[in-house]
Amino acid sequence: MTKSGNQMALALLAHVTGAHPSSWMASARTTNPSNDVDYFADMAALAEAGRFDLFFLADTPAARTENLDAWSRYPMYMNILEPVTLLTALAGRTRHIGLGGTASTSFHEPYNLARLFGSLDHISKGRAAWNVVTSSNDYAARNFGLHAMPPHARRYDRAREFVDVVKALWDTYDDDAIVFDRENGVYFDPARFHPLDHDGEFIKLHGALNLARSPQGRPVIIQAGSSEAGKELAAETAEVVFTSHETLAAAQAFYRDLKGRMAKFGRTPDQLKILAGLSPTVAESKAAAEARHQALQDMIHPTVGYQRIGMDLEADLSDLDPDQPIPLDRIPKSANLSTVYFEQIVRLIRDERLTPRQLWQRYERGNAPARGTATEIADRMEEWFTQGACDGFMLTFPVLPAGLADFVAEVVPALQGRGLLRREYEGETLRDHLGLNRPASRYAAPAVRPAGVAR
Ligand SMILES: Cc1cc2nc3c(=O)[nH]c(=O)nc-3n(C[C@H](O)[C@H](O)[C@H](O)COP(=O)(O)O)c2cc1C
Repeated sequence: MTKSGNQMALALLAHVTGAHPSSWMASARTTNPSNDVDYFADMAALAEAGRFDLFFLADTPAARTENLDAWSRYPMYMNILEPVTLLTALAGRTRHIGLGGTASTSFHEPYNLARLFGSLDHISKGRAAWNVVTSSNDYAARNFGLHAMPPHARRYDRAREFVDVVKALWDTYDDDAIVFDRENGVYFDPARFHPLDHDGEFIKLHGALNLARSPQGRPVIIQAGSSEAGKELAAETAEVVFTSHETLAAAQAFYRDLKGRMAKFGRTPDQLKILAGLSPTVAESKAAAEARHQALQDMIHPTVGYQRIGMDLEADLSDLDPDQPIPLDRIPKSANLSTVYFEQIVRLIRDERLTPRQLWQRYERGNAPARGTATEIADRMEEWFTQGACDGFMLTFPVLPAGLADFVAEVVPALQGRGLLRREYEGETLRDHLGLNRPASRYAAPAVRPAGVAR
């Protein structure tokens, strides 16, 4: 563990051409980069030059199959490389930066997942991270024999059990179990090998992972759920949490709430790093940054606008006049998909009585904007970091790689000059970068618990 407590963590959420729906039309790339490993390698190298802790790929295991007029104009997740495959390729093209990706507890078996991320941790020499999601996408459900996602609470019940089983599998071998003793002809010590007998509500597994314990002991566990169930799971198991808040006060309240939940699971607040979502646009003035944003907003096609707000509101508003206020009775009672996005969009409709067009122009899907000069953006980051709102930032950029390049050229030196960001990597692993301890194996703990029991 090497990171000093007064330095912030930075993660890049590497949506292919950026987080803005129009990014693919605004990017400098005139041909499709989605399937080009060199494109991602260049982007990871840029983040590494900016001394980021983590390069992160979001994912959902599905292309959309309906409303294709909208999705063909806004191709989010319509054509993306499988994250662990891509991250494994990037492991060979980077030296320091952590490599994280999303994989769903609803659509994997724990064994496959433990093996994939365990292998990535070996191949990257200790830089792997798994973003635990329960998935909130019925398109994905239909790829796996379901017609819709199971209810929110059931998904989280499975996720809790799933994470525990994955962690147990990663501990199959003790750190020193592979003795490679050629003199006596013993490759591993059977006494330091721990098969798992797990008979749970969702998962049955009687076996053992065929992979040595990895450099980080276990890959870093990330989560991004903001519901009650999501926060409880994070307090119990997550080491990094991505969150998204529009105000300092809301971020501070979330920070206190989540860290305050950890003690009951026997954890201390420093075992979890909360990264606030931020979407910077750096320009020579605030007005120039706003103008750049507005140019992107103006490119949103109405079909895409209705699609975008309908998806997160979980209600189709496309029959409404784009320029009349949205009737409040069109707001569903609660969310089954994403609580955090749902609440943001409902607040905009309720409090500001927006029209559909105003809503799709205003709604930023959890990407708290920071538009202005490098100094203004660094000020904002410093304020949030030093005022107990976060341990660092999960950065999205409206347009990639241009937004990242501006940030690395201008905001990174400002943060380094203030002593808020490392100038050089000091440790080797992602845990080192983040200041997280390497976890002991559950079988090495003083009181050995039976396999499969939550800890
Ligand atoms: C920064 C960020 C990244 C996320 N990445 C993914 C992702 O890659 N795949 C996914 O299915 N959900 C992703 N989510 C959604 C959350 O993981 C979570 O499943 C969703 O918010 C619903 O859970 P909740 O109701 O507990 O908030 C992300 C959320 C945030 C804020």
